Amino acid sequence: VERASAAVPSGTFSGHDNAGAVGVAGTVILSVPFRNQSETLTNLKEALTPGQLLIDATVPLAAAVSGKATRMLGVWQGSAAQQTLEMVPDGVRVVSALHTVSAASLTDLEHPLGQDVLVCGDSRADKQEAATLIERIEGLRCVDCGRLEMARTTESLTALLIAVNSRYKIHAGIRLTGLPDKLWER
Ligand SMILES: NC(=O)c1ccc[n+]([C@@H]2O[C@H](COP(=O)([O-])OP(=O)(O)OC[C@H]3O[C@@H](n4cnc5c(N)ncnc54)[C@H](OP(=O)(O)O)[C@@H]3O)[C@@H](O)[C@H]2O)c1
Repeated sequence: VERASAAVPSGTFSGHDNAGAVGVAGTVILSVPFRNQSETLTNLKEALTPGQLLIDATVPLAAAVSGKATRMLGVWQGSAAQQTLEMVPDGVRVVSALHTVSAASLTDLEHPLGQDVLVCGDSRADKQEAATLIERIEGLRCVDCGRLEMARTTESLTALLIAVNSRYKIHAGIRLTGLPDKLWER
């Protein structure tokens, strides 16, 4: 909270444990290492409530089991986001996003982002709600990438970007071309 307040003095910040944060949030962003994803969701079963929007940024990198960060693990459900959907209480709305945005770029507030966020989910309205929140971050444009099952592909782009990053010593992002100006009904 102290670090965030120092970085954004106009912001309001409070600290919670995971269950406490979920208890007071309309929207929950799940951003934990894949090895902790299922235990985190199990621990939050009582805290999550129907109607909440859960944005899953988890990537099932092989690094979770001491493998390479440029390789993916097979997830029986198809993707980490689909595993989340299976684990949350009925009525929690799951959207997958943010996998290609590097934490280093996001936390460097001077760094211009200028990149896309690939959003997957089974409800257009839920994706739009997530996009409206995410696009409050200057330089991020959300793109509707289809149903939640597409997360299998968007999650794996993280492994690709890690390979690119290690070659060029940068924090690469994704930018799609040829899209219309208006991507969402607003
Ligand atoms: N880093 C990136 O640039 C990036 C980009 C795209 C997607 N992702 C994906 O986003 C997810 C988070 O990545 P990250 O780099 O932010 O990871 P991280 O720094 O290792 O961990 C993120 C958060 O997970 C929490 N956490 C760790 N172990 C936990 C546990 N056993 N139970 C509950 N919470 C736990 C940490 O809490 P504490 O601080 O309390 O330990 C931390 O707040 C991963 O699935 C990653 O693949 C990351």
